[in-house]
Amino acid sequence: MPNGTLAAYLDFAPREESFRDVALAGLTRHRKAIPCRFLYDAPGSALFERICELPEYYVTRAETALLAERAGEIAARIGPRARLIEFGSGASTKVRLLLEALDKPSSYVPIDISGGMLHPAASAIAADFPALEVIAVCADYMDPSRLPTLVAATRDRRVGFFPGSTIGNLTPDEAVRFLRGCRTLLGPGGAMIVGADLKKDPRALHAAYNDAAGVTAQFTLNLLARMNRELSADFNLKRFAHEAVYNEGAGRVEIYIRSLMDQLVTISGRRVAFVADERMHIEYSYKFTIDEFRRLAARAGFKPLDCWTDSEDRFSVHYLVA
Ligand code: TRP
Repeated sequence: MPNGTLAAYLDFAPREESFRDVALAGLTRHRKAIPCRFLYDAPGSALFERICELPEYYVTRAETALLAERAGEIAARIGPRARLIEFGSGASTKVRLLLEALDKPSSYVPIDISGGMLHPAASAIAADFPALEVIAVCADYMDPSRLPTLVAATRDRRVGFFPGSTIGNLTPDEAVRFLRGCRTLLGPGGAMIVGADLKKDPRALHAAYNDAAGVTAQFTLNLLARMNRELSADFNLKRFAHEAVYNEGAGRVEIYIRSLMDQLVTISGRRVAFVADERMHIEYSYKFTIDEFRRLAARAGFKPLDCWTDSEDRFSVHYLVA
């Protein structure tokens, strides 16, 4: 019986991968790239929190306002006694808006790779919702087929929650694969609530990833600072620049770090050469029209039902059924 404490904490975290191996592999490729998951060390996470509060970065505010405004409708769609399974729960902030609106939710299963975030966030939810069974799962949710089946082992309605337009950080093929995995995990009758950022004026998109105060630049360049700290690298941050461009044809913001000159950098004893204007790829952030997103969900075997948008039509939240 739930009693205000965590019902379970399951640790399925993969063994820590080596930042050194992944960074060196990415920097010795023909087209250099560093996977975006390395952006979020402690300083990077703090910078990302600041990004979410920037006037130009509307994404977090728009989705939070939308959820606050539509929580009643979304909860009515879900119905009573649901199990809510969150993929990448972080601080579990947005899910509170749903949990407060839901009719007698039975359980909440936050899944996150970062145990340091997950444990306190899940414990706080358990304390604030004493009737809710909270099962925290520390795991890489990106491959749902490898999550413990216990995640969805309930006769209650199973509803996945994937906010933040994190789906847009996957390529369309990866996003379809991820959603297919969710569908298999959730089983027949399962549903997904997914946040997707919308296509809009390219100037607004450009500003959201190139803020005037330079916080986003600090955030991406922190990757180089992190290599200096952890891999005894000698990047001179003044010789690199953050670059985010909206590629209208591809419908995505592309985030890079550009080398401002020919230069040699040492990382963990290995020399890496950069030519002037060479770019390292950091991340894509795909933007969707409502129809594009619904087609993507359909490719993954979901039937798209509702779509809610915020009052300024910047962001969308979709209700999909398996
Ligand atoms: N998921 C966020 C997004 O795509 C991540 C993000 C925001 C980001 N600003 C960034 C990633 C700048 C790299 C650089 O909107």
